[in-house]
Amino acid sequence: MKYGIDALTLYVPKLALALQADWAQARASIFAQGNPELLCQKVEKGIGITHMSIPDYHEDSATMAAMAIKNLMEENEIKPSQIGYLAVATETGLDHSKNMGTYIMGMLEAYFEESFSHVGSAEYKFACIGSTYALESSLALLESKRLSAPYAIVVCSDIAKYQLESSAEYTQGAGAIALLLSENPRLVEIDAGPMGTHSVNAADFYRPLNKEVPVVDGKHSMQIYEQCTFEAYQNLLAHRKQTTRDFDLLNGPIDYCLFHLPFPKMAKHAATFLLKNKELPTSEERKAYSQTEEFQNFLNRKINPSLELAPYIGNIYTGSLYLSLLSLLSSSENCVNKKALFFAYGSGASAKVFSGTIKSNLPLKTKEKLLQRRFLSLTEYEDRHKQLNDQFIPSEQNPSIVPPQNEFIYLGYDQMGPKQGFRKYSYKKES
Ligand code: CAA
Repeated sequence: MKYGIDALTLYVPKLALALQADWAQARASIFAQGNPELLCQKVEKGIGITHMSIPDYHEDSATMAAMAIKNLMEENEIKPSQIGYLAVATETGLDHSKNMGTYIMGMLEAYFEESFSHVGSAEYKFACIGSTYALESSLALLESKRLSAPYAIVVCSDIAKYQLESSAEYTQGAGAIALLLSENPRLVEIDAGPMGTHSVNAADFYRPLNKEVPVVDGKHSMQIYEQCTFEAYQNLLAHRKQTTRDFDLLNGPIDYCLFHLPFPKMAKHAATFLLKNKELPTSEERKAYSQTEEFQNFLNRKINPSLELAPYIGNIYTGSLYLSLLSLLSSSENCVNKKALFFAYGSGASAKVFSGTIKSNLPLKTKEKLLQRRFLSLTEYEDRHKQLNDQFIPSEQNPSIVPPQNEFIYLGYDQMGPKQGFRKYSYKKES
């Protein structure tokens, strides 16, 4: 019996910041010797990003997750009674104790007017790789027939916020992905057997309790990403009793390599490390190799189709690897019966590598929709950035930039009394 991803939806906020115009003007003196054009080039070519998604004032990680699941259920005609498990992956959770899944199910119950009380749920935390741990556990629950219903859902929802004017500022983003998992899946059959895994105790990126933005050592985080990914890949080969030569990424049986994308250029760095770190030990040698025709062909055939959407959204942390999958499935490639290798990474740190067979394309017009968002001015962006934390309470002083219509909204939380800190949500219909 095959198990895997039956359907997938992406939710991104209606707001975005273009990393050009007044933003580039304001930051050029910090990042590009006062030259805004040079900064635009650096961000677009060196990082791979042109736009970052920004949540509106009525949104948080829970509303974005609820939107992704609502759309998943409606588009695939799934009833609450068919769902056995809800795994929530986030690194921008809303409570030290309460599972975000309970807020999400509360919103969905009110919307569908049906009970979710039979649905088991847990929140998974391991930076961006929490989603892949959630996927692995949910698949195991399905395979072992421990669920009372045929479907499990993994929802990945995050708001990537970094310090303004830091070099991480242009790697922010926000969004949610919901994955419907089942037997005989329509989108991706995930190969059975252990995933390649590698974990270490690293100080590359982490967000201590009560800190709004992560502590991040950018260059070090890239090195840890590359090393963990390489070791997890070796671990997968060891499980399968294969060598790098049998499972040659350049010419072997794998059609596509999909990566976690903190920024799109990271896929290229990771791929050169995977292919050549033994033969070309210095970063200069690997950089030179990445310019060769051999590597460029590999990039164009096996990686680039999965990089089409991230430049318009930015880093969505837990959802990022599955955004790469959506990019591939909605690209012009015919993916049917093609083999994909998934490289998951989470800071702190852990990497996992697994393979799957794609069963169908998903021809959504996501890119066109992303170009129709409301683009923020620098002032709107900086004001929103200041208020973008889990303590924020909406009020008349900070109305939604795009008034919500047919979407879940965050209403705030009680500041005192017996329900202090308990968050409230509602659904706003078209007015
Ligand atoms: N035209 C084209 N390219 C240009 C350019 C120009 N005018 N100017 C500069 N560049 C290139 C540089 O040559 C460089 O390319 P290479 O990487 O190929 O050498 C690239 O732009 C980046 O420039 P810098 O080396 O100056 O790097 P930076 O100071 O901009 O920092 C960063 C980049 C480290 C990623 C930083 O944005 C950051 O800290 N981001 C947050 C942390 C992160 O994303 N880490 C990734 C791994 S951790 C992870 O994956 C978990 C997660 O989701 C956070």
